[in-house]
Amino acid sequence: MTIYSTSNLEQPDSEIQSVAIVGAGSIGIAWCIVFASAGVDVRIFELDETRRESALAAAESLLHEMHGAGLLSEPVDDILVRMSVWETLAEVVSGVGYVQECVVENIDVKRELFHQLDQLTPKEVVLASSTSAIPSSKFAGELEGRDRCLVVHPANPPYFLRVAEIVPAEFTSSATVAATAAILRRVRISPVLLNTEIEGFAFNRLQGALLREAYCLVRDGVISAVDLDTLVREGLGRRWSVVGPFATSELNTRGGLRQHSEVLGAVYARFGLERGLENPWTPATINTVANAIEQDLPFGNWEENVRERDHAMIKVASLLKGFENPLVRGES
Ligand SMILES: NC(=O)c1ccc[n+]([C@@H]2O[C@H](COP(=O)([O-])OP(=O)(O)OC[C@H]3O[C@@H](n4cnc5c(N)ncnc54)[C@H](O)[C@@H]3O)[C@@H](O)[C@H]2O)c1
Repeated sequence: MTIYSTSNLEQPDSEIQSVAIVGAGSIGIAWCIVFASAGVDVRIFELDETRRESALAAAESLLHEMHGAGLLSEPVDDILVRMSVWETLAEVVSGVGYVQECVVENIDVKRELFHQLDQLTPKEVVLASSTSAIPSSKFAGELEGRDRCLVVHPANPPYFLRVAEIVPAEFTSSATVAATAAILRRVRISPVLLNTEIEGFAFNRLQGALLREAYCLVRDGVISAVDLDTLVREGLGRRWSVVGPFATSELNTRGGLRQHSEVLGAVYARFGLERGLENPWTPATINTVANAIEQDLPFGNWEENVRERDHAMIKVASLLKGFENPLVRGES
């Protein structure tokens, strides 16, 4: 199988000036903020009347908080004027170049909505779903305009976690993928491209792997649920804000990821086998990962990359100094 990576994507500038957001729940409002605060006009449609009427107020409240934290480059009112709420689906998609569907996680609702969107929009308009787990072939495969359909799965909330998975189906055109990556880059969301459709995509598969082990550890009385959350929040989570798990393996061991898997691969494999999982620590996979990570790390040698990692972690620690997490007992 050919392995693509987001860095292989063509990088045209996006010419899309306006987008439609369909569904103004948590994710829909968050996408509105991402697009509008990056200068893109946002048209909003929501079925529920109460939510429709409160959509702009919900966005405004978050924008004020972001402004107060110095995260916006212009006044809140200048961003809000780019958002408008419309009464019908036909009106909301009129003239837009991109639609981000954000309705409930229900395959039948998405299938019906994509059918309507396919009929209401010209064939060059990208139709993207925010779905957390459902591949677009399950709800857009029958459409005449299926080549412009795909999944753009955000991390929640996307105005804070600035990455999204682009998941094309087999029928999605490469032009659609390129246009999607371009608009995401323009609104400061890092696009990550998946090579193949898989239920749950990569983000939730990773989250699922961690949750599976976490449930096992709590079930077996190894650790309390609260301590487990502390371990991830203060430990793994903080580290992963600077380096991903593969770069962690590369930089935590002298000799890099190849040496790390030499020393610890069998141990990690046993963890999985104990849970009835297959062993992915094969020489071929380790080699693929090591080659990619070695090429991707930016500095001249291992020592320098480690030094820069430490520098970045100290910087993050200094940014977090004085931050009192309101969700942690004893800190507020
Ligand atoms: N919440 C998360 O953490 C998260 C993260 C990533 C992706 N997602 C995905 O994003 C999508 C939206 O999730 P959410 O958490 O915002 O849900 P939500 O329940 O907060 O919002 C969904 C909104 O869609 C509206 N809606 C339903 N059918 C509609 C239709 N036909 N037309 C217009 N509006 C309609 C509902 O009234 C509701 O306001 C889901 O597919 C979800 O899986 C959620």
